Amino acid sequence: MMDLNSFPRFPLANLPTPLDELPRLSRELGLRVICKRDDLTGFALGGNKARKLEFLVADALEKRADVLVTGGGVQSNHVRTTAAAARKAGMDAVGVFFSSPSGQVNGNLLLDQILGAELVYAHADKHETELVIQGVCDDLRAKGRNPYLIPVGGSTKLGVVSYVLAVGELLEQLQAQGIALDAVVVTTGSCGTHAGILAGMKYYGANIPVHGITVSRSRAECFERIPRLIQEAVPLLDREITLQEGDIIVHDAYLGEAYAKITPEARATIHRVARLEGLFLDPVYTAKTMAGLIDLTARGTFAPESTVLFWHTGGTPGIFGFPQDIV
Ligand SMILES: Cc1ncc(COP(=O)(O)O)c(C=O)c1O
Repeated sequence: MMDLNSFPRFPLANLPTPLDELPRLSRELGLRVICKRDDLTGFALGGNKARKLEFLVADALEKRADVLVTGGGVQSNHVRTTAAAARKAGMDAVGVFFSSPSGQVNGNLLLDQILGAELVYAHADKHETELVIQGVCDDLRAKGRNPYLIPVGGSTKLGVVSYVLAVGELLEQLQAQGIALDAVVVTTGSCGTHAGILAGMKYYGANIPVHGITVSRSRAECFERIPRLIQEAVPLLDREITLQEGDIIVHDAYLGEAYAKITPEARATIHRVARLEGLFLDPVYTAKTMAGLIDLTARGTFAPESTVLFWHTGGTPGIFGFPQDIV
């Protein structure tokens, strides 16, 4: 077997992240909810992107890049973490936003400015934004720079490998603590985290279903992206990953009106989980996901007394980007 730990890696994340019990929430829901605290990866206020960027930045440095270029929503955690990682590695960063300027400089956007990232507003949809990102790279090359393009969300084969390793980390913790896990629930955005966790379950031979709660893309798009990302990672994993019918589970009932638009359930979940557990969820990603976990429990998707893992992917600065949506 290929040693996944031998991949070039630029250290960013504080690993392993803790595995916490959520006992008061568990009691209310009638099952055991545990939480994988990837909000505590530490680097630049934490989140899932620190894991992916360890591999992406190492690759950029190998290619002698001097600027990282990526994109996302105006409160993108990915842009913030990429800009911080670029700085730590001695590079510049450009963040391309789908939207127009919001007028308010807070949350992740404030952190982007502190980091001195160049910010470009594409005024475009997701697909067109990817083209704008490519255009920014072309312009930089014309100026003699060497840009490294990171697709929206950092969802690439290297991003997938980082989450395969995260599953290895989780399985070790579960074994050490004698926990038998029945399901994982995770946010599905650009799909790299979901793809990596699913691939990781296959890679390590763990038969634990992975429920994705989509917060931006349609189910159809997720069903296209997840297997594609896994297949792209297969040569790096050096092992066939065979997906069976039913392995990809994506719930789209918790997205609401649109990406980054709060739902009443997500808002209530932010308050409920904070008041029960002292745990913060963000309005764009993790609150919708936890709202999904709670609703799926009520619908009987998870059997009473079963053990379900909520994979907390971070996003904490987003709380300060949307205060009016939360209170
Ligand atoms: C806090 C948070 N959770 C989850 C996700 C989704 O991860 P992925 O894009 O790998 O699906 C993101 C991505 O932007 C994020 O910022």
